[in-house]
Amino acid sequence: MLIVANWKAYVETRKKADALVSLAKRLAKKTNSALVLAPSDPFIGVFAPKNISSVSFAAQDVSHTLGGAHTGEVTAPVLAGLGATYVIIGHSERRRAGESYLLIAEKMQRALAHNLIPILCVGEEARDTDGKYLTVVREEITSALEVLSPKDRSRVILAYEPLWAIGKSAAEAITPTDLAEMVLYLRKVLAELLPGKSSGRTKVLYGGSVEPENIRDLAGAASIDGFLVGHASVDPTSFAALVRALS
Ligand code: PGA
Repeated sequence: MLIVANWKAYVETRKKADALVSLAKRLAKKTNSALVLAPSDPFIGVFAPKNISSVSFAAQDVSHTLGGAHTGEVTAPVLAGLGATYVIIGHSERRRAGESYLLIAEKMQRALAHNLIPILCVGEEARDTDGKYLTVVREEITSALEVLSPKDRSRVILAYEPLWAIGKSAAEAITPTDLAEMVLYLRKVLAELLPGKSSGRTKVLYGGSVEPENIRDLAGAASIDGFLVGHASVDPTSFAALVRALS
């Protein structure tokens, strides 16, 4: 299993970051899961260059630009140069801030061109009874992948994160049955975009109120490859419990 800890902007001190990185390194020695930390960019600069553990690092976003007169942008070569392995793209909190399908597709291309593995986030705002939410998710996947070469498409990790389940508690997360159904749908969409059997190898993650209380049931019910965890990943007790629950 792949566990990606999305620290969002929760971690604002070096002390807290140090503690969480040390914890992840200790946990990594005792689990079969691959642990990925996604702190804010400056912390990637602090921890990734000297990292010799099996923990890896993800950025929470990447610029659609390359070097030049772009104040405030953090480009893919900078992140890759510091030692980030992955980058989260299209998180709902960024889409809400105005990111379009086009911008997200550009970010996917930039990331892949610099050997960062994109973790593409998709997910509907709400469920409806006539399946419109499925169309939304299909569009989010298709618009981000269709601009890529077949080889690049096969490097993408997909994270399904329904917005209605983000930042709540385990009781309000998706049910294992609904997740299993959704993963079948995601794999169907991926099969249309990826050649032959390679869509079956795409890693699919779930995110949205994953907590120690529900992670095992979710992992057991659906054929998923891991989790993108927000709030529970910045609480040391919860994070340790999450990792142990999958070990
Ligand atoms: P959450 O966030 O675990 O706090 O719901 C997940 C995410 O937004 O990536």
